Amino acid sequence: MAFLVFEGIDGAGKSTLISSLQQRLLEQKQEVVITREPGGTPLGEALRQLLLKTDGDIPVPRAELLLYEAIRAQHVERVIKPALQKKQWILCDRYTSSTLAFQAGGRELDSQPIQWLNFFATDGVEPNLFILLDLPPTEGQNRMQAREKDRFEIEELSFHERVRNYYLKLASEKPNQWLVLNALQSPQSLFEQLLHHLEKQSW
Ligand code: TYD
Repeated sequence: MAFLVFEGIDGAGKSTLISSLQQRLLEQKQEVVITREPGGTPLGEALRQLLLKTDGDIPVPRAELLLYEAIRAQHVERVIKPALQKKQWILCDRYTSSTLAFQAGGRELDSQPIQWLNFFATDGVEPNLFILLDLPPTEGQNRMQAREKDRFEIEELSFHERVRNYYLKLASEKPNQWLVLNALQSPQSLFEQLLHHLEKQSW
């Protein structure tokens, strides 16, 4: 088993990759937990609605950061730790590195308090691997045209460029913790590369 986190800008194709892997693991009779941030628990899903809506009292960047971290603390206690104890696979759509990429990279908040808050919220629980689906933001935006957009998806291109660059920086700082995939490739090819990597690790 392993705790895997899927990261990337909006439209990178995380959901497709997660469901392909889920299917494969279920075929192998493995126990799998699929979860996401913001969300993953009833409290987290309720806060997610408040965080992503584009009208009403929009949180200022520091409030936004703290809400993501509150959701994370709940998620780690209620979902991640119990699944780790049961030795289940965890496929998680976004985690601590989203906060660094979006709130430090995108919103340009200081990264130091974010690192501390990430540690506090997770109680030090880290995934085995972050999988970055790397995509140029222009392509992400093309792919999202049909969807109804949340508060991040309506941000300008330069915001998403900063997010992407921050992810790449994180991955280059800790190459053993990251698998970077070029998300311009077909879903099948991305899936094969991920499987290859997981087999290499014997997970
Ligand atoms: P996501 O669930 O990936 O959106 P969608 O349902 O459209 O695929 O994530 C919602 C947004 O929240 C996404 O734009 C990234 C943002 N986000 C942060 O800004 N900080 C965080 O810590 C997390 C977890 C997400």
